[in-house]
Amino acid sequence: MNNSRWPHAFFAAAALYAMIGVCWGLAMGATHNHATYSAHAHLNLLGWASLGLMGTYYAILGQAVSKWVKLANFVLSNLGVLLMIPGVYMYLGQAGPPALYGPMIGIGSLLVATGFLVFVVTVIMGLFRPASPAATA
Ligand code: HEM
Repeated sequence: MNNSRWPHAFFAAAALYAMIGVCWGLAMGATHNHATYSAHAHLNLLGWASLGLMGTYYAILGQAVSKWVKLANFVLSNLGVLLMIPGVYMYLGQAGPPALYGPMIGIGSLLVATGFLVFVVTVIMGLFRPASPAATA
């Protein structure tokens, strides 16, 4: 994938999570059943807000970041959300056996954390990358 497509990939995933999260919120409001609000909140904040912010960083400041770093960040963060959020949903709604949702939450949250680690290291390394000649400060 061309480097410039990575912000689009992050935004496409983020927008999908936002659509699901917003519908989830509407469903909670309509049914007056807020039992799963924490999973809704984490989907919106990890899926929509965090992936959107990562995509924004790569669009504005990430041109020099290797595509493998962006790929690793994208895969880890998305797999994490896709495992963790259904796991938290099952846990809150008591909709599945603990033997299933326990590992989903555990592995998913570790993947999310590792995705953030990749992102944090990338951002900090960017701080020390030589500035382009056009930059003034
Ligand atoms: C149409 C859009 C949305 C609707 C109808 C909606 C609805 C809801 C509802 C009903 C709750 C449960 C409140 C409670 O029981 O305390 C909730 C919680 C929450 N939502 Fe949403 N939501 C929407 C979009 C979003 C978005 C876009 C975000 C973040 C980017 C978000 C973040 C949160 C958070 C953080 C909580 C937990 C708040 C708390 O601790 O009480 N929501 N939402």
